[in-house]
Amino acid sequence: MRILLDVNGARVEADVLPRVNLADFLREHLELTGTHVGCEHGVCGACTVRVNGEIVRSCLMLAVQAHGASVQTIEGLSDSGEISDLQAAFRDRNALQCGFCTPGMLMAAQDLLQQQELPDRQRIRQHLSGNYCRCTGYQAIIDAVESTARARAGHAP
Ligand code: FES
Ligand code: FES
Repeated sequence: MRILLDVNGARVEADVLPRVNLADFLREHLELTGTHVGCEHGVCGACTVRVNGEIVRSCLMLAVQAHGASVQTIEGLSDSGEISDLQAAFRDRNALQCGFCTPGMLMAAQDLLQQQELPDRQRIRQHLSGNYCRCTGYQAIIDAVESTARARAGHAP
């Protein structure tokens, strides 16, 4: 099937099989490998991307369902500079080890910070609860998101 969509601000036109999911389309067709694939059935959050401004698990969405949509991946979000402070906080607080979960975690964290200026730690945990990390134990990730929220709101970290 022929699909037309916007990916990270660029118009994309492609022929895809109806069974191809969005994660595989982004990774294999467009070589946007920052979108990771872990569980492939909507559990781990590694494949999180934005579609029309909402975060979705791209392993659960068919590429053909993105026809006409605006898709943003971690590459686009990173290149835009929108999350440079969040990325720096992850680095400074050692909130990543192997990095497998990190793109999805950053997408989800930015989604929360857009919804709420100063979420407390419980709210951060809740919002990131669908993003699994096998390495960090989550504390450093919560710290990084909390310190970014505080800095954006003009508070001391
Ligand atoms: Fe999509 Fe795990 S790969 S949620
Ligand atoms: Fe390895 Fe999160 S840093 S899974």
